[in-house]
Amino acid sequence: MSFDLVLFGGTGDLTWRKLMPALFQAWRHGKLPADGRILAVARDERDDAGYRDWLHERLQAAESAKRPSDEEYTRFAQRVHYLRMDLSQPADYAQLKAWLGSRSTPGGADTVVMYLATSPHLFPVICEQLGASGLNGERVRVVLEKPLGHDLASAQAINRAVGAVFTERQALRIDHYLGKPSVQNLMALRFGNALFEPLWRRESIAHIQITLAESLGVGTRGDFYDRTGALRDMVQNHALQLLTMIAMEPPSSADADAIRDEKLKVLRALKPFTRESVGRDVVRGQYRAGMCGGHPVPGYLEEVKVPPDSHCETFVALRTEVENWRWAGVPFYLRTGKRLTARDAQIVVNFRPVPHQIFPGASVPNRLVIKLQPEDGLELQLLAQKGSGHGEQLTPVTLDLDFDKAFATQRVGAYERLLLEAIAGRLNLFVRSDEQEQAWRWVEPILQHWAADPVGPRPYNAGTWGPSAASAMQSAGEPSTATAGVTPSANVVL
Ligand code: BG6
Repeated sequence: MSFDLVLFGGTGDLTWRKLMPALFQAWRHGKLPADGRILAVARDERDDAGYRDWLHERLQAAESAKRPSDEEYTRFAQRVHYLRMDLSQPADYAQLKAWLGSRSTPGGADTVVMYLATSPHLFPVICEQLGASGLNGERVRVVLEKPLGHDLASAQAINRAVGAVFTERQALRIDHYLGKPSVQNLMALRFGNALFEPLWRRESIAHIQITLAESLGVGTRGDFYDRTGALRDMVQNHALQLLTMIAMEPPSSADADAIRDEKLKVLRALKPFTRESVGRDVVRGQYRAGMCGGHPVPGYLEEVKVPPDSHCETFVALRTEVENWRWAGVPFYLRTGKRLTARDAQIVVNFRPVPHQIFPGASVPNRLVIKLQPEDGLELQLLAQKGSGHGEQLTPVTLDLDFDKAFATQRVGAYERLLLEAIAGRLNLFVRSDEQEQAWRWVEPILQHWAADPVGPRPYNAGTWGPSAASAMQSAGEPSTATAGVTPSANVVL
């Protein structure tokens, strides 16, 4: 199979930090189809050689195992080309068309992937110009990088502009969490095993916690982040995608639309927020200066390009429910934040306690901890009898699976996987427009409530697990499942 991959935003951060390293790894792993060309597009005046040198220098920043040797880079770089384009100029798209037609094989590549790694405000103009130049035929796919809009209306406007030129099956919306092997493994866990499905429901599950904690701050992205905030940056997309994978009904097949239909049903079943429930069930926070990894770090308001009076949230914790027969009454807790104690993404499924206790001492409910990162694994927490003494209390034990160790050599990074899927035209790991719009619809009341709330986010010290209010929201009557030896990240109780 032959392909041409066009990277709009060819000199941007995303391209050299994520996309090019991922393409290099795919090439190194022998996964990139042999007859493939990569075209970086940007405004600067350069030629192929100039771009290749520029990229070579950038790739030196990669960790040593991922850095290309000079010999490897020379071979990889033969596939990399550069085209200067002003994205508003039809003549420049004519040049792009000529480049795509310049292959020795007549008719061009089997697949052309237009990857829009630019600011989203450029998506409509790029799509319009691609359409006007006839670069939207069946073989062409367009990949849209996050953030896709700022709210429902802007997301719909982008989708309309894309939809005027490309069909839904040609438009691939990225959520890089879907490319993570640990996230893909959620599907295998739920639908490749018969074991969990009978228990995966309100009768057996007390509550589910999804935590995406980061120890880093906003770094140099203060400008972007301050217009975005944690709800738009992490909850509307990554956290909700995880929730859909945990809560969805078994799809009838592994076909992309069979899966996306089920995910959409979950999003539609999420309990809508009201003014009252936002106040009760959602906590927003903003980090202050503190200690992270043993070093003092500045507060959010001291970060570069952040206004000193910003109300932007760097932390969100919320409680929601999926209103259907499977999940009615089961709280789903989502929590994400920057500058927390550790980088730690995991989903904790808390089972109900045994209905009748025959052993001495308090019963400890079973828990399934699905570790997404930095570790990739599964922990099933059970109770066992340690000795044979009569009247002995049961002891917590853990079945521990380490997928990093077991499958390390077969696992590839999220962007490597997503780029290969885009080239192959498999849509499973991309978000459909109706899913994306429904996620916006659900978060909008929170955004509106916050916009009208003069109080702003609650402060928390960098290096902690977020504002104390996030743990003070525990609903009446819901048992706390925190147990000894469990890190706070494993179980946030609102
Ligand atoms: C991105 C957000 O989508 O995800 C970033 O814009 C965040 O703010 C990042 O840091 C987290 O991704 P990962 O893969 O490091 O968990």
